[in-house]
Amino acid sequence: MAKDYISVQEAIDKGQGQVDLRGWVYRIRNSNKFVFIVLRDESEIIQCIIKKEENPKLYEEAIKLTMESSLKLSGVIKKDERAPTGFEVSVNDLEIVQISEPFPITKDQSTEYLLDQRHLWIRSRKMTAMLKIRHTVIGAIHEFFRKRGFYEFEAPIFQPNACEGGSTLFDVKYFNDVVYLAQSWQLYAEAAVFSLGKIYNMSPTFRSEKSKTSRHLAEFWMAEMEAAWMGLDEVTQVAKDEIKFIVKRVLEDNKKDLEILGRDIEKLKPTVEKDIPTVSYTEVLKLLKEKKGMDIEWGKDLRTIEEEKVMELFDTPIVVVDYPKEIMAFYKERKKLNSKEEKELPGPVALCFDMLAPEAMGEIIGGSQRDTDIKELEKYLKKEGEDPKMYDWYLDLRKYGSVPHSGYGVGVERVVRWICGLENIKDAIPFPRTMMRKRP
Ligand code: 4AD
Ligand code: MG
Repeated sequence: MAKDYISVQEAIDKGQGQVDLRGWVYRIRNSNKFVFIVLRDESEIIQCIIKKEENPKLYEEAIKLTMESSLKLSGVIKKDERAPTGFEVSVNDLEIVQISEPFPITKDQSTEYLLDQRHLWIRSRKMTAMLKIRHTVIGAIHEFFRKRGFYEFEAPIFQPNACEGGSTLFDVKYFNDVVYLAQSWQLYAEAAVFSLGKIYNMSPTFRSEKSKTSRHLAEFWMAEMEAAWMGLDEVTQVAKDEIKFIVKRVLEDNKKDLEILGRDIEKLKPTVEKDIPTVSYTEVLKLLKEKKGMDIEWGKDLRTIEEEKVMELFDTPIVVVDYPKEIMAFYKERKKLNSKEEKELPGPVALCFDMLAPEAMGEIIGGSQRDTDIKELEKYLKKEGEDPKMYDWYLDLRKYGSVPHSGYGVGVERVVRWICGLENIKDAIPFPRTMMRKRP
């Protein structure tokens, strides 16, 4: 009779009767009376037992199995409180697909070794759990924007311009010329809002980051949005709603995966249940001074240490707005200050925001209202060492029916790292790329 293979989880849900399973040896233990196989597939693990007395031929086959060998088996499933996932299969048929060579990954191996063996480590329970959460995060982003009437829009990956400053551009030989790998989808999105109004996208993004931190990758996925007619207040609200939506989805769909990762879900619940506060850059400096005894000069960008210290005061992400204009990317619009603000602030600020995550996870989103003043744009492009002529097409967008518009970018791995509670961003992507790592 043809076998009707089901997943381990489906077998557990069935709970009784004959089942056909296939997967890999997760753990194996032999004695002269029986073989215990813990079988793993994409869904779960399950203990399987082969007794020599009952089935001597199967027993002789099964003792050949090694960790990570691939196999098919059939047997009767029943509840067993002592088994790791509460069920056991009493095996009555076994087909070995391949006997694995000694698996190079054993207990307690270094992070670097596991990165060298990433092609094999990816099948670990922790990586599998992270990948499932990542899948939920990505699905939730599409769902969030599509439900709100945003169109998905694609920009080129080969780009002639910088968006986020020249220092992190990757150059690529392009026929007899040079182009850059996309640092952001944004500049093209600003063209497309004149066509589609509200748009979003998720794409590989490239930054030649020379820093070795736990939050920077050279290749990462950014989920961006851009909308015509939207100002800073409205766009920060969309970002808050999006983050709440993502975390809610993960809490609904990935309880087991969070458990495998040892993630305390109580730490994630406030993000769904409470309001995400908005705080200005200037207020952050005040909080750092009053609550953390840190004296930061107005006009300096917040460093990792400052972001981490201020986030000790919050159990949800926060939105920080109005950073000093002079340290921001050229396209972030200058805020028109009222006379009271003019007196209180040491310098001009931009209509921009970062969303910072709690638990020392740092910036997860960056966005702004976009400047529509060509003169200002040219001035700040020059300040960044760019030739405004190279941005002629972008500046055109301010000439033909210009409208206020805003957008932001979510660092997908930053969000996955925070939700999973991972030490390093490298474990939030299957095959990380950093300055030091391009293999496997
Ligand atoms: O703050 P960033 O640089 O903003 C932009 O690129 C804007 N053009 C986005 C927009 O307005 N459409 O990057 C956005 C987010 C950051 O908040 C961070 O989460 C993530 O992208 N990010 C990185 N993630 C991993 N590795 C890196 N090297 C990253 N650089 C930025
Ligand atoms: Mg940023």
